[in-house]
Amino acid sequence: MKKMWSGRFRQPLDPEFEHWQRSFSFDKRLLKYEIAASSAHARALKNARILSADELISILEGLQQIGEKAATSPAFLEDDEAEDVHHFVEKQLAALIGDVGYKLHSGRSRNEQIATDLRLFVRASIDELREELAVFCGVLTDRAEQAADAAMPAYTHLQRAEPVLVAHWLLAYVEVCLRDADRLADCRKRLNLCPLGSGAVAGATLPLDREFMSETLGCDGPTANSIDATSDRDFALEFVQALSLLALHLSRWAEEMILFSNQEYGFIGLPESYSTGSSAMPQKKNPDLLELVRGKAGRVIGNATALLITLKGLPLAYNKDLQETQEPLFDSSDTVLQLLPLVTGWMKAAEFRHERMQQAAQSGFMNAWAAATYLVRRGVPSRQSHEQVGKAVQIALEKSCELQGLSLEDLRSINPDFGPDFYESLTLASVLAIHDVPGGTAPTRVQPALSAARQKIDSLREEIHAHA
Ligand code: ARG
Repeated sequence: MKKMWSGRFRQPLDPEFEHWQRSFSFDKRLLKYEIAASSAHARALKNARILSADELISILEGLQQIGEKAATSPAFLEDDEAEDVHHFVEKQLAALIGDVGYKLHSGRSRNEQIATDLRLFVRASIDELREELAVFCGVLTDRAEQAADAAMPAYTHLQRAEPVLVAHWLLAYVEVCLRDADRLADCRKRLNLCPLGSGAVAGATLPLDREFMSETLGCDGPTANSIDATSDRDFALEFVQALSLLALHLSRWAEEMILFSNQEYGFIGLPESYSTGSSAMPQKKNPDLLELVRGKAGRVIGNATALLITLKGLPLAYNKDLQETQEPLFDSSDTVLQLLPLVTGWMKAAEFRHERMQQAAQSGFMNAWAAATYLVRRGVPSRQSHEQVGKAVQIALEKSCELQGLSLEDLRSINPDFGPDFYESLTLASVLAIHDVPGGTAPTRVQPALSAARQKIDSLREEIHAHA
């Protein structure tokens, strides 16, 4: 089987090396993009009068057939001769339509092809990921809405800090994921340029209409510099880095769900459909999905590091090292695309133990800041009010009660400004209500935050569909 480059070689390649340097086993997944890019190139060749109208038709039909064969028969892609996806297509095309097939490669290089295929792959993956993020955010928002006015503790330093609405807590994750979706959109914006016509490094040797090819592939324009276009993998790096951050977020989410579902917290009941048992301890129900989500983040972050290091020493322009950027890229994309529907399913199925959360939200002096605010509203300087409520906490600890368990006498011994209305300011409802700022947990603020989240998810969906 002839290589795409064997003319100047007198000796055959070492068979072990020959096998080892191939990329077809992993770049075959780019076939769809390779065919789209090749079709655009063929049309440009026809416009440049390198192909006749008939030749163009037979090349386009041949390419289409290759795509169809690949879709219907996986065995078609088991080719132990193809060096890479570009070689595979050329070879199959010649087998289908004869020597005209070899005209397709006129004026182009695999260097621009792989740069184009990878951009198209990342673009499609971003669209899918954003779609999945929108679904996950939608489920988080549904759960927030269902939680209504249920409260839970919020933690700082992993110590009880202040009560918040469960809805407020869930909406925090919506913000996190919307940022991830936005980062991916930003990456998409920069990558959506078309390298076709860049040649091997210096630009095509035929007068190919680059604007036309770019438009055909749905890009925003041709890349500006052929040297850069054939060596640039920033889009891949930005993408896997955005995915690292996304995976890191899912890992933090998973860690919190693991904590909240253990017996000590007891806030969340693990859904059986996403948990496993122990082969030894009959009582166990383990949060395996969550643990694997946390574990996969390590892998995705590792891929981003692999890519960074592969690229860091490369001079311009194309170097074969670039072939090594593909697998980490695919792996990060696959890993995160698998994670998102799973975490969405888990989030839908998780059982919130509102009673237990509510109980926790009302103990542990989580109304102490609200108590200090009571004094501040009466003109006491913040430092003093903090000190005085601290004293009250001390007395309550001695008496094994909460602040509301102290008598007015006890309180007035600390500051005569304490009045009978103080107790009212300590209830869970009052404590929640005073966090009455945009972005705060007062129920009057969480309600509009819910609608705002829905709106943001809707516009994310609209953006995605505009690309489809
Ligand atoms: N399989 C190659 C890659 O992924 C395609 C480009 C080959 N170019 C070359 N000049 N050998 O990088």
